[in-house]
Amino acid sequence: MRFIGNKTKLLSYIDDILSKNNALPGERFFDFFAGTASVGKYFKEKGYTVTSSDILYFSYVLQQAYIHNSKEPSFDKLGKFISNKLAPRLMSTPYEEVLDYLNSIQGTEGYIYKNFTEEGTKTTPTPRKFFKGDNGKKIDAIRQTIEGWKKKGLLSKNEYFILLATLIESVPFYANISGVYGAFLKSYDPRAKKDLRLRPLSLSTKGPVGSAFNRNSMELVNSIETDTLYLDPPYNARQYAPNYHLLETIAEYDDPEIKGVAGIRPYNNQKSEFCNPATALEALGKIAGGAKYKVLVLSYNSEGIMPQKKILEVLSKHGNAKIYEVDYRRFKSNSNGNAEHKTHIKEQLYVLKRA
Ligand SMILES: C[S@@+](CC[C@H](N)C(=O)[O-])C[C@H]1O[C@@H](n2cnc3c(N)ncnc32)[C@H](O)[C@@H]1O
Repeated sequence: MRFIGNKTKLLSYIDDILSKNNALPGERFFDFFAGTASVGKYFKEKGYTVTSSDILYFSYVLQQAYIHNSKEPSFDKLGKFISNKLAPRLMSTPYEEVLDYLNSIQGTEGYIYKNFTEEGTKTTPTPRKFFKGDNGKKIDAIRQTIEGWKKKGLLSKNEYFILLATLIESVPFYANISGVYGAFLKSYDPRAKKDLRLRPLSLSTKGPVGSAFNRNSMELVNSIETDTLYLDPPYNARQYAPNYHLLETIAEYDDPEIKGVAGIRPYNNQKSEFCNPATALEALGKIAGGAKYKVLVLSYNSEGIMPQKKILEVLSKHGNAKIYEVDYRRFKSNSNGNAEHKTHIKEQLYVLKRA
């Protein structure tokens, strides 16, 4: 998924640095800022018992699907309930058949259609063009069907979260945005004009079943006992909740009181300490001092709001801290936008071995 700070492309680099520096000392791995769950999923597949947490509910949905699950869903109960509506294909799995069914259902004019499509908001001063009307209706129909199946007891907990995660992972392929949901594009991107279809998740069937939390992870600090504690906090002042509000609203589907041109849901209780330099360093200190771990790993980058010197100061109070850097492919333009003067953004890994 396109998500600021998604580590998917850096996983082998992170693994390489950690392995070479004996920073993966045991069997337990704690992913404190899970986001898309990409890091937890990777280490689960390598055999680690992963615990993960994030303040966003849609991240929790992804964590449930990728971390708190190790098998392909069988949809035994649901399969019997909708068997006459399923169209078995050669070699298809129950999961694919259920997705085929969800892809074929009639759209409905629900909360997403009424609040986030141009057709559904045409009487407002600035109609919201996050989705084409038919895709908005499809999102509503799929979301309501999944909830209805859950209420009827037709889905196991894992099956419920796998279907919800499938919707959350599929929606961005049809969203009329340039990356985040803080604004929609004025005219429709070709992506938004395609008919929405659910795409199966690449589920992690290897490794032990892990645990997932939907919490402000700071509340968990004093109860954490792990071998590797991995931190991948926000790097700058941009809060995640307003930038991904639409995925949160689809995951929660709780008819929130939304505001502004983009229809942002309230997020007062989802603000991160790591989006402000003063509170970020203090929070880092609390984690490094309060949690029980053998190695703490902090992913950060050279553009982050916590200065390198201060980070090393905070971490060094609790053991031996070292920094590893890599030139990542992202560039930052200088103020003239002159390509020749672009500066590399360095991805950093701080590794603290507990004294
Ligand atoms: C840089 S992203 C993590 C990216 C993730 N490693 C990935 O690969 O997708 C930071 C994440 O931290 C979460 N976050 C920020 N402050 C938090 C807190 N206090 N407790 C839990 N999650 C928090 C945000 O919601 C966001 O998902």
